[in-house]
Amino acid sequence: MERTLALVKPDGVARNLIGEVLRFFEQAGLRIVAMKMLRLSKKEAQEFYNVHRDKPFYDSLTDYMSSGPIVALVLEGENAISRCREIMGATNPAEAAEGTIRKSLGLDKEKNTVHGSDSPESAAREIAFFFSERELLAGQR
Ligand code: RTP
Ligand code: MG
Repeated sequence: MERTLALVKPDGVARNLIGEVLRFFEQAGLRIVAMKMLRLSKKEAQEFYNVHRDKPFYDSLTDYMSSGPIVALVLEGENAISRCREIMGATNPAEAAEGTIRKSLGLDKEKNTVHGSDSPESAAREIAFFFSERELLAGQR
């Protein structure tokens, strides 16, 4: 069993697509074990995306990610990290495979509706960024 951190980004929440996104993950058999809605400050978005601090899109990305509410969720399942990323599709919705979240719902390369951790190290860091131990224990079945 593996856990990963996923986000419904501001464009998804703004367009009433929270349920749609959750449906993609649940129908693929991933279990939601923690979930909350919140709004990141610019500073928090900068900290969350710290690995991208030297990229040209960092300032725009962190403006966007702090522009409105998001939904954070912890998904659990076998190979949850890679499966979550498969279900999301490529970063650019125009290049994402048919049937993926980004192909179906994404707007552009930045407003691509979802985030998913890219490695076990990122998943551990990103889950701890959003959730306390107590919130993680609450979702155990
Ligand atoms: P994510 O981290 O959100 O799951 O997406 P990812 O791994 O597919 O993409 P990554 O390279 O980590 O980039 C993080 C997010 O930054 C925005 N982005 N904009 N304008 C651009 O060229 C550009 N490239 C990336 C996207 O919102 C991307 O998801
Ligand atoms: Mg990434």
